[in-house]
Amino acid sequence: MISEQIVSKHRVNKHGEVFTNPREVNAMLDLVKSETERIDSRFLEPACGKGAFLLEILTRKLNVVAKRYKKSLIEYERYAVLAISSIYGIDILEDNVNDCRKSLSDLFQTKYRSSLKIKCSPECLQTVQFILSKNIIWGDALSLKYVNPHNKPIIFSEWSAVNGKMIKRRDFEFKEILDCSTNGLPFFSDEGEEVWLPESVKEFPVTHYLRLKDAEERA
Ligand SMILES: C[S@@+](CC[C@H](N)C(=O)[O-])C[C@H]1O[C@@H](n2cnc3c(N)ncnc32)[C@H](O)[C@@H]1O
Repeated sequence: MISEQIVSKHRVNKHGEVFTNPREVNAMLDLVKSETERIDSRFLEPACGKGAFLLEILTRKLNVVAKRYKKSLIEYERYAVLAISSIYGIDILEDNVNDCRKSLSDLFQTKYRSSLKIKCSPECLQTVQFILSKNIIWGDALSLKYVNPHNKPIIFSEWSAVNGKMIKRRDFEFKEILDCSTNGLPFFSDEGEEVWLPESVKEFPVTHYLRLKDAEERA
């Protein structure tokens, strides 16, 4: 490590890897402050490095979850899982992806313990790690393909809360989602205009938030 922001000159030259410092991360996120504090607003960092932005976004979301729900374990857990499921990243370097997943998982556990005064349960931790394995992707944000499995199109999972403790998962090709920006149609409209509805490549049955991994294994 040459500094907090640079691991090596080789990585800067080859991958443009210079991490953003916390002051800049906070200043940039403050430009969309209300979205960073909305538990289910979705964020994608397409060259996420070790997760500088994603970690701060998760911190802000979990602070809101704690403020509203720390008196109830079940409520806290399901909203905290919803918060982590809304955070997405891609990086081309495997060590960054692993570090990013681990830091997000560690942060989730630290916040859980400080809010509920107990350790995160093994089932909840398994769900969090399963979601992170899907949401933080080892891939190339330019070719829109995974590095591993090589050359396969990147798939993002959408996790949506249904009736409290249940979650609906739908998988979409990253390319299909991005087509929205090239065809000019919005994702949603309050004024009845035509909108872009990407087609999912796979849908899973509505599942309890602690059983998301089992649902994939059964599919
Ligand atoms: C300038 S750093 C920023 C990292 C992080 N967003 C931050 O602000 O700290 C750029 C990151 O992009 C990654 N990267 C470079 N080319 C990429 C590509 N084609 N697809 C995905 N990630 C890429 C590098 O590995 C590096 O982690």
